[in-house]
Amino acid sequence: MDTISDFSGTAQTAMLRDYLSAAAGSSAIQRVRATGLAMWAVGGGRLLDVGCGNGEVARELSALLPDAEVTAVDHSADAIATAAGLHDGSRVTYEVGDVYDLPYPDGHFDGVRSERVLQHLADPDRAVAGMARVLRPGGRLCLIDTDWQSLQLDGSPERLHDGGMELFAEWQGKFRSVVSPPSGRTLRRRLVEAGLTDVRTEPVTLVFTDLDEARPVMPFGPEMFESVGMADRAAGWLADLDRAVADGTFLVTLTMWVAAGTR
Ligand SMILES: C[S@@+](CC[C@H](N)C(=O)[O-])C[C@H]1O[C@@H](n2cnc3c(N)ncnc32)[C@H](O)[C@@H]1O
Repeated sequence: MDTISDFSGTAQTAMLRDYLSAAAGSSAIQRVRATGLAMWAVGGGRLLDVGCGNGEVARELSALLPDAEVTAVDHSADAIATAAGLHDGSRVTYEVGDVYDLPYPDGHFDGVRSERVLQHLADPDRAVAGMARVLRPGGRLCLIDTDWQSLQLDGSPERLHDGGMELFAEWQGKFRSVVSPPSGRTLRRRLVEAGLTDVRTEPVTLVFTDLDEARPVMPFGPEMFESVGMADRAAGWLADLDRAVADGTFLVTLTMWVAAGTR
């Protein structure tokens, strides 16, 4: 779960860096990214990753596409310092910039992508318009995001699902990191409304029966509840979770969406 969305302050910077690194190492996230890359259908040229976080995807793109010049942009100077600190010599440029006001001329890029960013934004349509603006005619925009309303749990005891949903709804309301929980399933609509053509979309449902494998995407742990003063409220549910893990019945699913369109 995106328990934190932004780099600000030393502790939070380290937490987000570690969370994003763990997610990048998750085979589930790699499957989502591979789906995105296929749908994006770019072969090289000038590529932009908006809200790049640690810059992992930008570096992967550079390694995969030798003809690409990749720019990784994030509105947080801390994020860009972190990403630049992880630089591996690939053809990636790291820059500070806000999706609402990207510091590039119209039509500058052959491809633009953005992953797990729109869910955190108050005005996702303005962000999509900003990304479309810097794309050349014929270039492709690829968006990836989570639909948090697709989160489903199962396991013994059966109350694990309902109890978990109630707690997550309350936690999200308090944490205020995810402004738009259904974001993933809205991506296609936003691309269509922004005037992109040849719009394609695909859900990628993540299924975990191993809590340790789920954690990089959804870190169900006491710390997420502690951070918003919900530790006592969550204790019973966390005990249920431990039981489901111990007896092997734990299951969680979450759908992420990939969508791409042509300017
Ligand atoms: C959950 S992280 C995702 C990072 C990366 N895309 C990934 O998938 O690993 C969200 C990122 O969006 C960035 N971000 C949030 N609002 C932004 C904005 N208005 N403009 C640019 N980046 C933004 C945050 O700083 C953070 O790095």
